[in-house]
Amino acid sequence: MANAPDYKALTVLEPIARELARIPTLGSDELEALYIELLGRKQGSLTAVLKTLPSLSPEEKAQLGSGANALKRDLETAFDERRQALKSETQARAREGVDLTMPGRGRWIGAEHPVTRVTEEIVQIFHRLGFARATGPEVETEWYNFGALNFPPDHPAMDLHDTLYLGEGTLLRTHTSPVQIRTLQRYAPPIRILAPGTVFRRDPFDASHAPAFAQIEGLAVDEGISFVDLKATLTHFARRFFGPTTKVRFRPSFFPFTEPSAEMDVECQLCHGSGCPACKGTGWMEILGCGMVHPTVFEHTGVDPERYTGWAFGMGPHRIAMLRYGIPDIRLLYDGDMRFLAQFVAGGSANG
Ligand code: PHE
Repeated sequence: MANAPDYKALTVLEPIARELARIPTLGSDELEALYIELLGRKQGSLTAVLKTLPSLSPEEKAQLGSGANALKRDLETAFDERRQALKSETQARAREGVDLTMPGRGRWIGAEHPVTRVTEEIVQIFHRLGFARATGPEVETEWYNFGALNFPPDHPAMDLHDTLYLGEGTLLRTHTSPVQIRTLQRYAPPIRILAPGTVFRRDPFDASHAPAFAQIEGLAVDEGISFVDLKATLTHFARRFFGPTTKVRFRPSFFPFTEPSAEMDVECQLCHGSGCPACKGTGWMEILGCGMVHPTVFEHTGVDPERYTGWAFGMGPHRIAMLRYGIPDIRLLYDGDMRFLAQFVAGGSANG
């Protein structure tokens, strides 16, 4: 910098001189804006001071003139140095391979897995009907998984081929129905719960089976609950979930823990009832098992079967996701392949 900083003592120059300290901190846009503000040919504040010199007395001219010119030189030097510094910074970044002018990369923010989405939608539909969410352990005892649910001791499902045993009397639950037992033991009626969770079976991993899959259990217990409530509630659910004109049907079935028992079918979501390979030409697809809670289940859990009745159902979100989205192979829901999953992101692709 010049060795005549006497301009600092001059009141007109002092605010301009103060800007010197900021120059080394500025980015290039701010730097050029400040240059114009101070040294611009038309509006620069220092330019304006220099323009007044010819009209001043010789002494004033000598004093202000040398100060203003020294300040101008110092400013020019500071601006040049800063411009140089910014330029070599940009060049250094370019050498490192950083191109600051490149547009930003779209960020992949992720999305719910189709099975998670289906589960949450189902839980929401029942939530509006007054059903609370419940959970239970994945490691269960034989009693909770079978005995309390009125399975006779020799029932084939208890065979090693279906159930993954962890030890004597301990197993990975094969269905979410033990949550019925745990809920009935813990809470007095009226009860309305929905229990989503993972269940395990000794099944091959093929196009329609997986050894670990999701289920959702439903249970309603109160005075005066009838099969009509069950049919009406599940029909309402199917119309909410699949569409308002969806046809359903109930077929008689058997479960040890419900009596009477039924299976509910919805019209095939692919052919809408006319018959196709997915529904094996029937026009229907089975989505859940259900029935009136067996009095023995009430006796095992200390609920008075003379006073209370109830119904329960169990459905499989993997299967329901397959029906709804026309997914032909359950393994696609386990692979974690982004090319498959990206289809379920609202708005599109994995590079979103
Ligand atoms: N737990 C049964 C199954 O896994 C489904 C079911 C639940 C049936 C509740 C009736 C009532 O197949």
